[in-house]
Amino acid sequence: MTILVTGAAGFIGSNFVLDWLNQSKEDVVSLDLLTYAGNLENLSSLSQNSNHHFIQGSIGDRNLVSELLKKYQVGAIVNFAAESHVDRSIHESKDFIETNIVGTYNLLESARSYWNDLDKNLKQDFRFLHVSSDEVYGSLNLTDPPSNESDPYKPNSPYSASKAASDHLVRAWFQTYKLPVLTVNSANNYGPFQFPEKLIPLSILNALNDKPLPIYADGQQVRDWLYVKDHCSAIREILINGQIGETYNVGGRHEKTNLEVVETLCAILDELKPKSNGKSYVDQITFVKDRLGHDKRYAIDASKLERELDWRAQETFETGLRKTVLWYLDHEAWMDHVVSGEYQEWVKKQYS
Ligand code: TYD
Repeated sequence: MTILVTGAAGFIGSNFVLDWLNQSKEDVVSLDLLTYAGNLENLSSLSQNSNHHFIQGSIGDRNLVSELLKKYQVGAIVNFAAESHVDRSIHESKDFIETNIVGTYNLLESARSYWNDLDKNLKQDFRFLHVSSDEVYGSLNLTDPPSNESDPYKPNSPYSASKAASDHLVRAWFQTYKLPVLTVNSANNYGPFQFPEKLIPLSILNALNDKPLPIYADGQQVRDWLYVKDHCSAIREILINGQIGETYNVGGRHEKTNLEVVETLCAILDELKPKSNGKSYVDQITFVKDRLGHDKRYAIDASKLERELDWRAQETFETGLRKTVLWYLDHEAWMDHVVSGEYQEWVKKQYS
């Protein structure tokens, strides 16, 4: 089965493509618009792989997507393409509405038109898998149970509202047109190739450059952390064995406060790359003003996926974080390339 992966040069998309091609000889068509967070360097190890086809373009370009679906006889679409950074969505939400909502709508329509014309067997096997977020369930109190698939959507940020809207469109295309969709709502991901605007890679970058490690408010907000390769293995499983029309939550059962995350990170860095002055990276932690509408806690109940598809996360938070730190220490050039002009503008806007 040839798959079309959208947002394939982004963080989770590129990890997914690399993992997929590591385990399969089938073709992958990678589509990415290469906006600020998409980076072709993430896929550079595939440059000699004849099963990989990269196309620069938008999920909203119906002509292009329709042409690709037909040309490569695509059997499944995995939609990672999205604007994903909450802080950016607070500064300016237009791109989130356009990519996450209108883009998904256009992708669904391209898929529906292609799928309608397929022969019976191919039509039955086709899948549209939509990758979404735990943030659509909104903020939990510390004593609430983790979010499960039947919990109501209560998004609070422009980002999470745009993802919630896209999830509703995907659901409607199944209910109305019977397009064979699957939706995956995952916890906060971390791992190789994550753009250093998110908490973990930003903290690694700043730690190594002797800069403050900015923690919003008191750092007591809780996120549920999932190593990106565990997310990729869950998506594979859901794509192959998931029930059409269903939603699956993916999480690692690793709830941590932001302060715990950064302190653990500092301890790993102290061990792997001790500072020349003998001090700890923890000294660089700096409490800064809070994010507007900052959600207190996200937590994911992944028991449906574990029960029905026998999936388990392989990494603990400590093993996953250690792998992540090692990857960043080993990929200084990658980091140097992504923190060019636009990134500096963002850091100035957000942290000055
Ligand atoms: P982030 O990585 O942006 O993911 P999300 O907002 O999707 O959960 O942020 C993770 C948590 O870390 C969130 O509670 C905000 C906090 N945070 C900081 O304290 N400082 C920072 O510089 C950033 C980027 C995030």
